[in-house]
Amino acid sequence: MIISPAKFIKGSISLPGDKSISHRTALIASLANGTSEIEGFATSLDCHSTLNCLRNLGVSIQETKNKLIIEGINKTGFYTPKITLDAGNSGSTIRMLSGILAGQSFTTTITGDESLLRRPMKRIVTPLRQMGANIQATNSDFAPLTISGGNLQAIKYDMPIASAQVKSSILFAGLFAEGNTIISEPTATRNHSELMLKEFGANITSKANIITISGESKLTACHYNVPGDISSAAFLIAATILLPNSELFLQSVGINPTRRAILDVLLQLGANIEFINTHIQHGEPVSDLLIKSSNLASNDNTRILKGNIIANLIDEVPILSILATQIKGGLVIRDAGELRVKESDRIRSIVDNLRSMKVEVEEYSDGLAINGEQNLIGTEINSMNDHRIAMAFTVAGLIAKNNTKIINSECVDISFPNFFSKLASVTTYL
Ligand code: S3P
Repeated sequence: MIISPAKFIKGSISLPGDKSISHRTALIASLANGTSEIEGFATSLDCHSTLNCLRNLGVSIQETKNKLIIEGINKTGFYTPKITLDAGNSGSTIRMLSGILAGQSFTTTITGDESLLRRPMKRIVTPLRQMGANIQATNSDFAPLTISGGNLQAIKYDMPIASAQVKSSILFAGLFAEGNTIISEPTATRNHSELMLKEFGANITSKANIITISGESKLTACHYNVPGDISSAAFLIAATILLPNSELFLQSVGINPTRRAILDVLLQLGANIEFINTHIQHGEPVSDLLIKSSNLASNDNTRILKGNIIANLIDEVPILSILATQIKGGLVIRDAGELRVKESDRIRSIVDNLRSMKVEVEEYSDGLAINGEQNLIGTEINSMNDHRIAMAFTVAGLIAKNNTKIINSECVDISFPNFFSKLASVTTYL
């Protein structure tokens, strides 16, 4: 994809449904008693990987234009899949579904694409084995995973790393375990699973980073509305902030406190973002957003992002790094070592591509430092087949001198199909 320098953005864009929430609706509705209707389910390839796996486990899922209809199997009705399950590029699919597979009395093998085969799985294998599942991992840490489950016992687990996928995997296994499973998080991560399990009737409580779920929980089908994806919105918000005379309206964006840190950081740096019609939907805060061009500046209190906030903006670091190049005072991001085990090593992908755009950036093992007010020069960008790198550098291309070419740009479909056409529909070029 070739990106030309832009003049301004004006208009509104309909967002894809939240990817994290969509995965969870499909998984939880499959385990419920009755028929669930899910509106606004994500169109992303990752969420379709979850649907494909569930269909191979015998779940009936119908897709209409903007709605999914899922016939729940009431916790015990999965069939042994005839094939190896394929999670594609999706860490959420393999890690969260493994928790459910750990509760099944049959054997399943689950695999994924080249990127997924490089991502660490010991983080779920260890607690699921403690609960009683028999799991074989490749080289003791990687997919394919072969899982023989059933007869799980509840555990008390102190998570060594902050990961909502790991937390969710254990919570889902907890639905099949005898007793109360208790999980303690090192810092609060996205809590969509907890909110949704409650919405579907599970016996679950959450207090001060400790979550308890009962193995006797019964799930009842729901009619669920998925909000727009804040992580997808972040690219559009950044482009609007960066281009002068710009204004963008985004409807129904999920602004859960464990996901909205990107907005809080931008507001602190001086962004003009208005929240309209904020309300609660299935326990999840949702709002329309009106974004206008803004001059961002950091100070001694806001220049360094580290510690607990990082888990709540981990997926937004690529676009935050592009914003940092324009922020008066720049930004430093630390405690973000998890970025090295995402769809690509995102610290490397950001650093290498920023340097090829002639930006000065310092790389740390757990983050990066970027001076502000730098000029970007359009060039060839290696997306590393990572959707968030491709979209972040598309925004970089809008504010760069000369054209920018994104290699393997089709990877944006992993989380945001039609990203390029939607962005172009509101952009006026120089
Ligand atoms: C996700 C959790 C995060 C995030 C990912 C989606 C989720 O991953 O980066 O994009 O939906 O639970 P980790 O759990 O590995 O931190």
